[in-house]
Amino acid sequence: MHILITGGAGFIGSHLVDLHLARGDKVHVVDDLSTGQRSNLAHHDDNANLRFDEADILTWPQLDRAVAWADRIYNLAAVVGVYRVLAEPTKVLAVNIAACERLLRAAREGGWQPQVVLASSSEVYGHNDEDILHEDQDLVVSTRAGTRWNYSVSKIADEALGLSYAQRFGIPAVVSRFFNTVGPRQVGRYGMVLPRFVSQAVRNEPITVFGGGLQTRSFCDVRDTVVALDALATAVGRGTMVANVGNDREISIIELARLIIERSGSRSEIKHVGLREAYGEDFEDIRRRRPSLNRLRDKTGFQHLYPLERTIDDLVAIERARLQEERDGHCTLVRTQSERAA
Ligand SMILES: NC(=O)c1ccc[n+]([C@@H]2O[C@H](COP(=O)([O-])OP(=O)(O)OC[C@H]3O[C@@H](n4cnc5c(N)ncnc54)[C@H](O)[C@@H]3O)[C@@H](O)[C@H]2O)c1
Repeated sequence: MHILITGGAGFIGSHLVDLHLARGDKVHVVDDLSTGQRSNLAHHDDNANLRFDEADILTWPQLDRAVAWADRIYNLAAVVGVYRVLAEPTKVLAVNIAACERLLRAAREGGWQPQVVLASSSEVYGHNDEDILHEDQDLVVSTRAGTRWNYSVSKIADEALGLSYAQRFGIPAVVSRFFNTVGPRQVGRYGMVLPRFVSQAVRNEPITVFGGGLQTRSFCDVRDTVVALDALATAVGRGTMVANVGNDREISIIELARLIIERSGSRSEIKHVGLREAYGEDFEDIRRRRPSLNRLRDKTGFQHLYPLERTIDDLVAIERARLQEERDGHCTLVRTQSERAA
């Protein structure tokens, strides 16, 4: 297959590259490296099946040609992360919506109707307070908290664009609502909780829990996420579907902090930080985020291979090696538990 991945040098995108190259597919990545890193793909530098272009998808002149070449397109390029979303509210809307529309327009005008897989998010459920979030439930955007919801709004717009191009022009569209995805190559500096906690634990620094820590999340290892996403896209084929992609095991943030301390043998203490102090402005946190995976499972039979403990162990090993590298000033090779088992 010919696979085009926008944002393919990022966290989830680079794991999709791994999956498709391992299968012998030809993969074309376009990424402006705003949050992604070329090093995420460095292990494929000798692979002739990978092509990389550093470009902004909003202005990239070769987009039409790349879209016409592809059988399947994953649109992952987006402004992401709580800190960036709060700091750049207009950019979130401009990039996330305009890039998606440009891509869909290219797919329509190419005349060849590639399958388009759109990265949406559990954030589209917004204030929906149901304990378990099903795809058919309402998407509830709050009018409070100003631009806090711009990311959510941008992803709702992307979903609407994808479904409209599917209905009006027959472009097969898979909308994947990712719930908190975690694992190797995720960076903590944009507000992602797990890499931040692991980094603090490995350094025996206080683990900073924002708010009371009773808010819950459901974390899915990225190595499961990309397998589920590919299985979904394959099963949906020329059809169109919106589906949650994640893991339905739920854990509170305070329990997560304790679990990381336990797995890493850290001497860190837990320190609570107010939401205003953490985000620099009023911030509405979400009480719960747990997906229903019935649709994903019914469609694909998908089963997870990476429990949270395994993800944490792998991240702790990677972070320890990085710390050692910082101290020694040279590179240490690290094999995760998963790689050792392979
Ligand atoms: N990680 C999660 O838990 C999660 C949850 C819900 C949704 N998502 C969605 O999944 C997708 C991938 O997220 P991620 O976690 O891998 O984040 P990421 O920041 O690692 O990946 C996004 C990639 O897009 C690139 N990019 C941004 N703007 C671009 C532009 N204008 N042109 C070209 N490339 C551009 C970045 O450099 C980066 O490599 C995003 O659309 C995100 O909204 C992720």
